[in-house]
Amino acid sequence: MNLYDYERRLNRPMRMKNVEFNREGRLKHVIFSQQFDPQRLSKLFSYADKIRTLAHDKKGCDQLRSLLSHKRAMLYFTQPSTRTFLSFMAACQILGITCNEVRDPKVSSEVKRESPIDSVRMFSSYFDVIIMRSIRANLAETCAYLMNDLEGFNQRNVPIVNAGSGKDQHPTQALLDLYTIHRTFQFDHSEEIEHSRLTDLKQEFPELEIGIDNKIYAFCGDIGRGRTVRSLAYLLSQYKNSTMYFIAPDHSTLRMGDDLRDDLHAANVTVKEVDSLDGTIEGKPLLSQIDCLYMTRIQQEHDSAEEKTAFDEIDFSNYHLTPERVSRMKCYAPILHPFPRDSQAQEIPVEIDADPRAMYFRQARNGMWIRAALLVHLFDAVEDLLAIYEDSFPFESTT
Ligand code: CP
Repeated sequence: MNLYDYERRLNRPMRMKNVEFNREGRLKHVIFSQQFDPQRLSKLFSYADKIRTLAHDKKGCDQLRSLLSHKRAMLYFTQPSTRTFLSFMAACQILGITCNEVRDPKVSSEVKRESPIDSVRMFSSYFDVIIMRSIRANLAETCAYLMNDLEGFNQRNVPIVNAGSGKDQHPTQALLDLYTIHRTFQFDHSEEIEHSRLTDLKQEFPELEIGIDNKIYAFCGDIGRGRTVRSLAYLLSQYKNSTMYFIAPDHSTLRMGDDLRDDLHAANVTVKEVDSLDGTIEGKPLLSQIDCLYMTRIQQEHDSAEEKTAFDEIDFSNYHLTPERVSRMKCYAPILHPFPRDSQAQEIPVEIDADPRAMYFRQARNGMWIRAALLVHLFDAVEDLLAIYEDSFPFESTT
């Protein structure tokens, strides 16, 4: 088997691929964000909330650690990572999953010309899930087909989790981004208390409501190469009346690709594109309209020599936040960033970190909880999680 055997399957429409990545109503592999619908997402958010609550004390931590202590995970990250690698590792540790890693193919048998496909098949002999990041857009998807083919031959196969594939997708980043948005747009509301932050906000923003629906989301920076932007936009496109603004330099590498634009239009999303954070939409400054701002870094490490020359003509300060720009945003609008941020370019300078709207550090921590929830789902341990939660909180609903 080699990569090219899978080309025909790689080029199929998403709805055909998704069938192969599910099993009996559960996810079999996690390759694209389009595998998640609002119902599945809402369940994952609830599992993540329960895991973080249980993790508050030793009894809960001990119970969580027993949930999947019979499982082993391989973290195969041949492209650099801090957050995704460590939060998956921490998620595994929370659940008692033993981890191992290959981060540098130079210390694996790939130096002896072993193919990544053979490497992944070998990992599946020793581990129960393979969480993988690669510079190659299709590698995780290809490995998922390999596992399915092995299943067809009654051979050992395990779930593949895409932890970032080229400039294509980063579905688990989209999960933590959306989980952060979901939590932020609860506005500390609870049925038990009559007066919440939302009550105050409604004085100024009467149409504001709880939840992900009916919001304007803005994405800024390297939209064309931003796999986190793609994955999150696909998730948001499934929510009611999502409007999306894309703020990027007008260059074919950096602005939104035609495929994403077409997909968003097909999902009836209102899409607007502008070339500065100071731009206007329908005559009004965009910064004062948006409910959520998703900043990204310009990924200069991928620039070709030709692009470097072309980018010298671009004023990138149009894509950098400043305290003054933040002051023009709505008082509740969260600022997200998948991180890393560029410490030299400073698309988000550190002065903004203390602003209550700066969510990016909480966003990264949310990654640990939602990735733990995803592993509980993948290993079909939801009933066990709900049972230990009920044991600690017997008077709460576990739905
Ligand atoms: N957001 C993200 O994927 O960060 P890392 O590259 O550090 O994993």
